[in-house]
Amino acid sequence: MDLKNTKERFGIIAMSLHWIVAFLFLGLYLSVYFRHWFTEPKTDLNWTALQLHLSFGITVMVFIGLRIAYKLFDQSPEEVPGSKLEHLAAKGAHYMLYAVMIVMPITGYFGTGVNTEFFGLFEIPKFKHTEAYNFIVVNILGISWEEFETPLDFVHKKGGAYFVWLLIGVHVAAALFHHFHRKDNTLRRMLPVKLK
Ligand code: HEM
Ligand code: HEM
Repeated sequence: MDLKNTKERFGIIAMSLHWIVAFLFLGLYLSVYFRHWFTEPKTDLNWTALQLHLSFGITVMVFIGLRIAYKLFDQSPEEVPGSKLEHLAAKGAHYMLYAVMIVMPITGYFGTGVNTEFFGLFEIPKFKHTEAYNFIVVNILGISWEEFETPLDFVHKKGGAYFVWLLIGVHVAAALFHHFHRKDNTLRRMLPVKLK
C-alpha cells in the first residue's frame, strides 16, 4: 500500500491520521462522560477523568494540526460513484468535521479553568495564565474572564454534547451505508485492506 494518497484510495499517512484522531475522539467522549455519569464531584477519580479529557484534547490538537497540514499537501482520492448532490453532501459533511476538529480543541483549551497534567507527565498551563491571554483578551479585547469564557464554554459543551455527536453519527452511518448497501470502496479505501 502507498504511503501517500492515490486517485483510488487514502495512503498510510492519511489513513493513520484519520484513525488516530477518531480513537482520540472516542477517548475524549469516554473520559468526559465517565466523569459526568460515574464519578462524584471533588473525588480523585473525578479529577483523573477530567485530566484524561484534557490530555486527550491536547493530543488530538497536535494530530489535527498534522492532519490538516497533510490534507493541504497531498491529493485527495477521486470521488466514488454517486450523484452530484451526494458528492456535495459528503464534501459539506467532511468540511464540517474539519471545522469541528478546529473549534472543539480551541474552545476547550481557551475556556478551561485548570492546568493540564499531561497524562501525569508534565503540566501545561491553562490559557488564562499565558502571556497570549493577557495580550489578546485583556489588552486588545479588554473583556473579563467571564465574558471571554462563557461563549467558549457554550460552544464547547453544547456543541460537543449535540452537534458533534450528530455529525459523527451521520458520518459513520454514511460509511456503513456505502459499505453494506452500495457495496463500494468508500470504507475499504480508508482501511488497510484490498479494494474490490
Ligand atoms: C476535539 C476535541 C474535544 C472534544 C470533541 C471535546 C468534547 C467535550 C465534551 C463532549 C464535553 C462535555 C460536554 C457536556 O455535556 O457538558 C467536554 C467538556 C469539557 N472539555 Fe472538551 N473536548 C475536546 C477538547 C478539549 C480540550 C483540548 C480541552 C482543554 C485542554 C477541553 C476541556 C474541557 C472541559 C474543561 C470540559 C468540562 C468538563 C466537564 O464538564 O466535566 N476539551 N468536552
Ligand atoms: C467509526 C468511526 C469512523 C468511520 C467508520 C469513518 C469512516 C470514514 C471513511 C470511510 C472516510 C472516507 C470517505 C471518502 O472516501 O470520501 C472518512 C473520511 C473522513 N473522516 Fe471519518 N470515520 C470515522 C470517524 C471519524 C471521526 C471521529 C472524524 C473526525 C471528527 C472523522 C473525520 C473524517 C474526515 C474529515 C474525512 C474526510 C477525509 C478527507 O477526504 O480529507 N471520521 N471517514
